[in-house]
Amino acid sequence: MSEIIIEARGHFEVWTINGEARRNALSVAFMKELDENVRRVSGRERAVRAVVLRGAGDKAFCAGADLKERAKMKPEDVPHFLAEVRRIFRSIEQSDTVFIAYLNGVAFGGGTELSLCCDLRVIAPEAQMGLTEVKLGIIPGAGGTQRLPRLVGRGVAKELILTGRRVGAEEAVRLGLAARVGTQPDAEALAQTICENAPIAVALAKHAIDEGAHLELDAALAFEQEQYKVTLDTEDRWEGLAAFVEKRAPVYKGR
Ligand code: COA
Repeated sequence: MSEIIIEARGHFEVWTINGEARRNALSVAFMKELDENVRRVSGRERAVRAVVLRGAGDKAFCAGADLKERAKMKPEDVPHFLAEVRRIFRSIEQSDTVFIAYLNGVAFGGGTELSLCCDLRVIAPEAQMGLTEVKLGIIPGAGGTQRLPRLVGRGVAKELILTGRRVGAEEAVRLGLAARVGTQPDAEALAQTICENAPIAVALAKHAIDEGAHLELDAALAFEQEQYKVTLDTEDRWEGLAAFVEKRAPVYKGR
């Protein structure tokens, strides 16, 4: 059985975490397949420009760590598995492909952390997010304590992480946790819009935003300038200029 159901939609793909019975919790087998697929779609020479990631069923995007599997895991194996989770989550962030998490249901603990390493989050009206780990005697261990404050500020992040409370869709958007409330077609429309833009430019803008956020302003502006320079040598830049002059839609090839 595949851990991820993959559907092609032109320039983007929809990936469904195929684990409805465990509310799409992050199992070892799922993480392995996620790793393989992130590698498949990443890098400059890629056909896939965006991925919409969702959970199977209508209850959960992802219920976090697979707590049943974790209960059986030898304590000495846990740190290695967590290191793998952190590496794979980081590879999503560093990928040239844009990842959109469609939170079709609840996302708790590692489920919220998985969505935080995606570029954008669209949340269904009935869905909820939450870094609930302190309720289980642990802390977010797959980037939550670092990515959440970078996204919403330390004050809001502390309130959410220290209480472990669950946040509904409207509040998630108000706090900046999600880009918008919507349906799966809304998430796919967002992917489609992004895919119509020049892929190299989209990837460079993604990295400029993410990497620049960790730098002091002058270094961040220099980093932006470096990314900009890369676009100057691309065929797509000339296609954008030609399409403008010829009053037609550009056809970008990612070159
Ligand atoms: N790991 C493994 N199995 C999980 C799971 C998890 N994180 N979350 C849910 N499941 C399993 C349940 O054990 C149950 O299995 P069963 O049918 O064999 O009993 C099945 O998924 C359905 O769960 P249930 O609670 O009945 O479904 P629900 O739709 O009413 O609620 C959740 C779903 C996600 C809200 C609820 O299961 C929950 O709170 N899970 C824990 C989430 C959590 O705290 N994650 C943070 C981990 S750090």
